[in-house]
Amino acid sequence: MEKRPIRDHRAGPLLPEILDRWSPRAFDPEREITESEKFGLLEAARWAPSSANNQPWRFAWIDKTDKKFDAFVELALMPGNAIWAKNASALVVAITETEENGKALDNAEYSTGMAVGQLILQVQYLSLHSHQMGGIYHDEIKKFLKLKDHHIVQAVIAIGEIADADTLPAELAEREQAERERKDLKDIFIYGV
Ligand SMILES: Cc1cc2nc3c(=O)[nH]c(=O)nc-3n(C[C@H](O)[C@H](O)[C@H](O)COP(=O)(O)O)c2cc1C
Repeated sequence: MEKRPIRDHRAGPLLPEILDRWSPRAFDPEREITESEKFGLLEAARWAPSSANNQPWRFAWIDKTDKKFDAFVELALMPGNAIWAKNASALVVAITETEENGKALDNAEYSTGMAVGQLILQVQYLSLHSHQMGGIYHDEIKKFLKLKDHHIVQAVIAIGEIADADTLPAELAEREQAERERKDLKDIFIYGV
């Protein structure tokens, strides 16, 4: 199944990482992420832009090789996500720090999204794939990571090497092969297009 976007005829070249990125559920459970891959991903996130360079993103990396990985899958992910995300090589929690020394960090959630955007393109650059999840148990994750009140758990990002769709339960295998869809440009531009 072709997963690449059907491109707007007016568009010039796009980054291959944008063209190749999509969110699979079938991950190879044997694949381990190397140290250099891991730190490349973290660097991509770290160098994201933010308001007044306030860098409000925080991350937790729960590696497949971590003895707490299975427990984290169980406590953090809703069952519909846990069933496939347990095969990912790593689960990354994206967190926003909303204040520092009692002062609110401007645009903190927006900037956290910027950092995740860079992270997932770097994932793609490594020929790995990512799948973000909002279907998570925020309070349980906060407890697990001993987060503070001024931390917001945004999402968990599954990262790994893509596997064949037929490694998934039948219903998920079907969804895995579905066409990708997007709104038309005219539906997302309020002005100028
Ligand atoms: C904030 C956010 C939350 C998401 N939550 C889930 C989720 O809980 N489970 C899931 O299977 N996919 C989840 N997704 C993945 C989206 O469904 C997916 O990105 C969207 O359908 C577009 O598909 P694509 O990423 O393949 O282009 C989430 C994506 C984002 C950005």
